[in-house]
Amino acid sequence: MDDTKIKENVHKGKCDEGEEMAKNAVLVPSTSLPADTPTVKGYDFNKGLDYHELFKIMTHCGFQATNLALAIEEVNKMLHQRSVPLTEDQIDQMEEDEFIKRKSYCTIFLGYTSNMVSSGIREVIRFLVQHKLIDCLVTTAGGIEEDFIKCLAPTYVGSFYLDDRQLREKGLNRTGNLLVPNDNYCLFEDWVMPKLDAMLAEQKEKGTLWTPSKMITKLGEEINHEDSIYYWAAKNKIPVFCPALTDGSLGDMMFFHSYKNPGLVLDIIGDLKRLNRIAMKAVNSGMIIIGGGVIKHHICNANLMRNGADYAVFINTSSEFDGSDSGARPEEAISWGKIRKTATPVKVCADATLVFPILVGETFGRYYHYSGDNTSKVIPNNTSCEAGV
Ligand SMILES: NC(=O)c1ccc[n+]([C@@H]2O[C@H](COP(=O)([O-])OP(=O)(O)OC[C@H]3O[C@@H](n4cnc5c(N)ncnc54)[C@H](O)[C@@H]3O)[C@@H](O)[C@H]2O)c1
Repeated sequence: MDDTKIKENVHKGKCDEGEEMAKNAVLVPSTSLPADTPTVKGYDFNKGLDYHELFKIMTHCGFQATNLALAIEEVNKMLHQRSVPLTEDQIDQMEEDEFIKRKSYCTIFLGYTSNMVSSGIREVIRFLVQHKLIDCLVTTAGGIEEDFIKCLAPTYVGSFYLDDRQLREKGLNRTGNLLVPNDNYCLFEDWVMPKLDAMLAEQKEKGTLWTPSKMITKLGEEINHEDSIYYWAAKNKIPVFCPALTDGSLGDMMFFHSYKNPGLVLDIIGDLKRLNRIAMKAVNSGMIIIGGGVIKHHICNANLMRNGADYAVFINTSSEFDGSDSGARPEEAISWGKIRKTATPVKVCADATLVFPILVGETFGRYYHYSGDNTSKVIPNNTSCEAGV
């Protein structure tokens, strides 16, 4: 009701002016929403325990549940593209570097922060690498060394609330609610130092120019342990990039090694070229990035070289109000040409230890376990990954 009508009704004694104005303010008439607008709905546990159904219905749940469901759709789009065979002219015959050779119709980049490898997300990443479900990894130094250290000795579950001064006295290091004994690092030192000696000898004798990715491949071969992400990466010729490989225990080892046996050189430009060329070769490109910082931007920047990725999923807890790259929504990357304008990228704001296993289970996991043999996996383009179920 407009103001004139209210005044008229008040004048005629039909209503109180204040009451009518308040009603008018609260109950602004709605315009109708388009007929296909989804309605909010959650999982009904009366129907039993069906986790696939529960994850599917998240689309209609709202908040980050809806974003997770959209992320599942986005990754299934990548997998659908991946099942398209390369044409004759797309087969990368001239490329001599097996690690950067174009391998499928959709090149998938996976980035993760170090703490993902400290946590049980390590096993989820290992599954993806073991079964060649992704093409390129980018992580930080802790993401490399902790995988090797876990082959030598375990990381323990502790608590966020332990006494850190006492932990220091006991030689126990805390990452969130996880604990790594100092002894694990001593075992790592014993294991890695002779490998660094051998790399230096090869550099001197054969002129090998080591890059972080080549060093990680070498260590992956040396660990020779099926629990290791990098064992499988070396075996399956999946490159692992770590531009800041020195910022962790591995860096400490390189520092000590530089006194004992100086001269080892690591070439980061060589790796930049390798990573960017993978992006430039991609027929389609998908990015799955868990966490922020270097790993997020390094993958996005490589995709700038091909005018942006076609698909993108970000999972992180960082927000954009501070202007950080970590917190930037995927739309910001569109403005820089790191994601294509035609893309439908998704950001899930959540702790990745909760949502990444669900994302993998509903995409790669179903793709691997339910869609036929390993060579002819095809996901229908309805993005729900229903094949075989
Ligand atoms: N275990 C370790 O964390 C560890 C071990 C050794 C060295 N380091 C070094 O510390 C430095 C910083 O680590 P970094 O760059 O790997 O990342 P980081 O730990 O600094 O995290 C970067 C951002 O990623 C997001 N993020 C982190 N954990 C998340 C989670 N569980 N869920 C969702 N989002 C999450 C947050 O927004 C965070 O600000 C690196 O150089 C690394 O090598 C870390």
